[in-house]
Amino acid sequence: MRINIAIDGPAGTGKSTIAKRVSSELGIKYMDTGAMYRGIAYALLRKGIDVNEHEKVLAALPETSISVEYGETGQYIVYEGENINAYLRTPETTKASSDVAVIPEVRAKLVAIQQETAKRYDIVMDGRDIGTVVLPDAPLKIFMTASPRVRAERRYLELKNAGKEADIDVLEKEIAARDKTDSTRAASPLKQAEDAVLLDTTSMGIEEVVAAVMKLVKERFEI
Ligand code: DC
Repeated sequence: MRINIAIDGPAGTGKSTIAKRVSSELGIKYMDTGAMYRGIAYALLRKGIDVNEHEKVLAALPETSISVEYGETGQYIVYEGENINAYLRTPETTKASSDVAVIPEVRAKLVAIQQETAKRYDIVMDGRDIGTVVLPDAPLKIFMTASPRVRAERRYLELKNAGKEADIDVLEKEIAARDKTDSTRAASPLKQAEDAVLLDTTSMGIEEVVAAVMKLVKERFEI
């Protein structure tokens, strides 16, 4: 049986940290689908397109392609032959990624790459619609949550460790705004798949979450 593991949940729950750790413990691929939405958003911004003008996005979409590559430091996004990972986490690209993710044609383009990859490889994939849309038949689906305050605190520490200034209250508001866009959009909104295991990480440390997920993996895949 293909090992396909879907991890979904709102921004800042630690999905990618956990997905990365679990994929490396299992020695299988990890796909960060959020980085793909960020990549398309960045490419459009670089073309000078306002991502809220959907007609313009649709016109540019056929010539705006990103690819997902893997190197020593893991996944990176390539646009026009360039590794664009360094540009994907700016506030501007972060906001634009949530805005382009409401467009069904953008989603279809990225979902096709995600499904194709999961067919070919054992994989841990994280995002918002993996268990509901991308891999509806994944044998293991996990939906991670945490309170908005805790998510803002984690993001604050991450920024602080990277030597950047931040305000926790502002971060909490940004997280709440992104949750709203992601869960109220018409196209594949963020929601827990019926057969997903809910994992509330509000008062859990990273090691505890990794252990909980690995336990589920071993049960589900009998490894
Ligand atoms: O996980 P992230 O913060 O890097 O995701 C960036 C944005 O992309 C997020 O606001 C929602 C969107 N996204 C999505 O709609 N579907 C996914 N599978 C992954 C991300």
